[in-house]
Parts: sequence; C-alpha cells; structure tokens
Amino acid sequence: MISFAHVYKTYPGPVHALRDVNLSIQKGEFLFLTGPSGAGKTTLFRMISAFDKPSSGLISVAGHDLCEITAGEVTYYRRRIGVVFQDFRLLKGRTVFENVALPLEVRSERPQNLSRKVDEMLENVGLSYKRKNYIEQLSGGEQQRVAIARALIHQPGVLIADEPTGNLDPQMSEEIMDLLDRVNAQGTTVFVATHDHELVKRRAKRVVTIQAGQLTVGD
Ligand SMILES: Nc1ncnc2c1ncn2[C@@H]1O[C@H](COP(=O)(O)OP(=O)(O)OP(=O)(O)O)[C@@H](O)[C@H]1O
Ligand SMILES: [Mg+2]
Repeated sequence: MISFAHVYKTYPGPVHALRDVNLSIQKGEFLFLTGPSGAGKTTLFRMISAFDKPSSGLISVAGHDLCEITAGEVTYYRRRIGVVFQDFRLLKGRTVFENVALPLEVRSERPQNLSRKVDEMLENVGLSYKRKNYIEQLSGGEQQRVAIARALIHQPGVLIADEPTGNLDPQMSEEIMDLLDRVNAQGTTVFVATHDHELVKRRAKRVVTIQAGQLTVGD
C-alpha cells in the first residue's frame, strides 16, 4: 500500500531530514510513527501526501509513483487519501460545517448526502453543537477535531495524521483514537505520528521510530 525505498530528503542548509528510509505498510494496517521533535515525522508525511518530493529514492502509495507524479495526478491522488496536518490548515472565515464539507464538494456530492455525511462526522468527533461556528471561534482542540473530521469525510483509503491528538485532553485523545480504530476496521490504512508514548503503549499497534531522519524499529 505504502512503500519507501532508500528515500532521502535534504533541505537547503543542508538539513538531512530523511536518510535512507525504507518502509513497507500493508493495506489495512494501523501504525504509529514516533520520534523526537525535528526527527523528520512531518517531512515523511509531506512525502506521503505528495506535498513534496524526495531528493532521491522511491515512494509508492496505492499504486501511485509519488516521485514521478504529475500535478494533474496529484489532485486525483489527494482525493483518495486523508491528511490531518500538524497545523490543521483549516479555512478561516468559514464554518465548521463548511470546512468538513469541502472534500465532498470537490467530488460534487449531492447536497442531501453531503449534509447527512457531515452531520454524522461532526457527531463522531463531538462537534455537532459547533457546526455553525467559524473556525476562529474554536479552541485548539476543537480545531484539531475539525481537521480530523475533514480528513475522514470522504472515506479515504489511506489516512495520515500528524499529531492528531496533540491539542486534546486525555479523554478526547482516547475518543479520537477509538474513531481512528473504527475507520481502520472499515479498511482504511492509518498512519499516525505522535509524541504521546502513553497513548502508543495503550494501543497494541506496530510502531516505527524515526531519529535524525533514520527509521528504527519501534518499542
Ligand atoms: N522547509 C524546510 N526547510 C529547511 N529545513 C526544514 C524544512 N522543513 C523541515 N526542516 C528541518 O527538517 C528536520 C525535520 O523536520 P520535521 O518537521 O520533519 O520534524 P518532526 O519530526 O515533524 O518534528 P516535530 O515533532 O517538532 O513536529 C528539522 O531539522 C527541520 O528543521
Ligand atoms: Mg512535525
């Protein structure tokens, strides 16, 4: 489903953000990515979401070669994946409902289906009562849950989530992880970057760790 072969990413500096990363993730797997700040987690996710290309090596996700992918194909590819960004990237000046509806709008979903799906998803993340609020009226944890809802609304085959519980209290973190578990049980491949070692310990999942750009097998 996701495969990295000898992937390197060097930023100007030079900063060697990824160094010879090799990784294979099966369809339907749920795995965690841990590692200290600056280790390369977001960089690795930027490669999977095709926001950036590696300096060298091969990356393939759901049959797409992400090193050779064209701009046109990227648009199509992104509709098949769900991404929770570390910094949320929600649209200010739009409501919670409008933000979550966006991935369905680009797919021209029928209005009555769209409304039902968005309402169901907002229920799942416990934000129904904020559906008409603007993004800038929400707390950090609420914004995080909107970002998760938006990433899941189109039932992606692959979900990558960069610190999806970073702004949530322990109880809400567990609820969000339960939601990701359910999504995974329905067949979505789920890859979650987190600093929260307690959360990782409580869930018996495969863990990969990154340190200074290099992957090591997890705990
Ligand atoms: N656009 C960029 N230009 C130059 N260096 C960058 C850029 N983006 C990231 N880096 C550097 O690459 C390294 C990896 O950064 P990355 O954001 O992937 O870390 P991370 O593991 O996600 O950290 P955190 O846990 O703090 O989110 C860091 O040294 C960072 O400073
Ligand atoms: Mg990061």
